[in-house]
Amino acid sequence: MAPMLLPSLTNFILAFFSIFLPPEVFEPTFPLRNTLNFRLRHFHAVTPSAHVYFADVPPHPSLYGDSPPLSIPIAPVRTVRPSSDAAFAEARALSMRGQSATLDWEEDEIPGPDVSKRETLLLLAKMTSNAYIEPDTDGWYNLTDEWGIHEPVGWEPDNDGFRGYIFATEDNSTVVLSIKGTSAQWVDRGPTTGKDKMNDNLLFSCCCARINWSWTTVCDCFRGGWKCNQDCLEDALIEESLFYPIGTNLYNNITLMFPDANLWVIGHSLGGSLASLLGVTFGVPVVTFEPPGERMAAQRLHLPSPPSTHHITHVWNTADPIAMGTCNGVLSSCALGGYAMESRCHLGNIIEYDTVTNLSWSVDVRTHAIAQLVDKVLSQPWAAAEELGREVPPIKRQDDCVDCFKWDFGNYSL
Ligand SMILES: *[C@@H]1O[C@H](CO)[C@@H](O)[C@H](O)[C@H]1NC(C)=O
Ligand SMILES: *[C@@H]1O[C@H](CO)[C@@H](O)[C@H](O)[C@H]1NC(C)=O
Ligand SMILES: *[C@@H]1O[C@H](CO)[C@@H](O)[C@H](O)[C@H]1NC(C)=O
Ligand SMILES: *[C@@H]1O[C@H](CO)[C@@H](O)[C@H](O)[C@H]1NC(C)=O
Ligand SMILES: *[C@@H]1O[C@H](CO)[C@@H](O)[C@H](O)[C@H]1NC(C)=O
Repeated sequence: MAPMLLPSLTNFILAFFSIFLPPEVFEPTFPLRNTLNFRLRHFHAVTPSAHVYFADVPPHPSLYGDSPPLSIPIAPVRTVRPSSDAAFAEARALSMRGQSATLDWEEDEIPGPDVSKRETLLLLAKMTSNAYIEPDTDGWYNLTDEWGIHEPVGWEPDNDGFRGYIFATEDNSTVVLSIKGTSAQWVDRGPTTGKDKMNDNLLFSCCCARINWSWTTVCDCFRGGWKCNQDCLEDALIEESLFYPIGTNLYNNITLMFPDANLWVIGHSLGGSLASLLGVTFGVPVVTFEPPGERMAAQRLHLPSPPSTHHITHVWNTADPIAMGTCNGVLSSCALGGYAMESRCHLGNIIEYDTVTNLSWSVDVRTHAIAQLVDKVLSQPWAAAEELGREVPPIKRQDDCVDCFKWDFGNYSL
């Protein structure tokens, strides 16, 4: 009907409406969409035997009806992926045999999370946060009004492994995999035992979690003094640790479900470290919260290092000794809980909230909990960033970081 309106009448109608409607109503919705809208689609749980379980979010009017989706600000993100999974595996195998391998990386630019916006970090943190808690219990953040979630699998408190959520845009073009490592619950609930703890200690300790002579080590590579056998460490990790294969299985499952999607991976704590390793492997955008240092693990696993890791962003606060790599020593709360969280170096970009300086927080393992970051840091403007004309603190990197500097790693014999 529009063409039949006289130009003056059209102008009149526009002017008439503009009195009553906010001005943005008349802004075109193109050419730039600067958010993507996500809805929760599936739950996942991965057990140490590397079984991957998925549960669909039950159909519920509120999921597809009027409740608003999660609207996340986006920005172009440069990704670097290996030319194929096979080429990556081959380069990795060569590296494990001590040979150098060249691997072709393909650069791409995809819509990724806009990590310069506080809103992005807040929403993604909530999406990883909910991965800890059963729906409708205390501490669950309502992402929108109602999700209508019933009986997801893998939520038993003493389940080992990883679990979390899968969010997708309506057209399946972008999918967010949210990963939580169950062992991180020890912050609130006391240490979990079994595979999780062993995996943590293999990946994040200097030498098989040998904190002192009274510890039961997770591998047998200690060679006296501060000497540790490097080959022994790598063999133990590759043979025993399910941490990385669990993640790649999960990732591959999701690419089967959403073959044409751009994937983003997000995670908290151990789930964040795993997310980062998947980001290195598959070249996808990653945002992690309070992750223990994963760079040493990537090296010990012989993951071919991509030409750039700018697609990986870690978000943490300086009072968290786990992310800062200071939760070590025989009397630290990590050691007392049976964890040797000794690594401190991370791959990728870092957004560090200096809660120790700017909020006068004391270093305390309880600040590792994602709820602290959501409720006390990301939920309101961060003054120290705003002083710099930014919404979030400026990007840092740890390129000169050294892990386990006291130790000598080499082919030491017993
Ligand atoms: C979340 O939504 C449920 C159902 O609408 C409501 O009962 C609950 O109080 C909400 N929780 C919070 C923390 O707002
Ligand atoms: C999105 O993927 C789901 C599978 O998880 C499928 O059932 C649905 O039809 C897909 N939707 C579109 C628009 O492709
Ligand atoms: C997930 O991947 C595993 C192997 O990686 C496979 O056995 C399983 O069938 C997959 N599950 C789904 C739901 O695709
Ligand atoms: C060894 O470490 C444990 C746990 O951190 C601690 O309780 C114990 O006192 C330490 N033993 C010695 C001899 O330092
Ligand atoms: C935050 O801390 C930094 C030092 O790390 C200081 O320069 C800045 O002024 C502080 N800002 C606020 C708002 O407290």
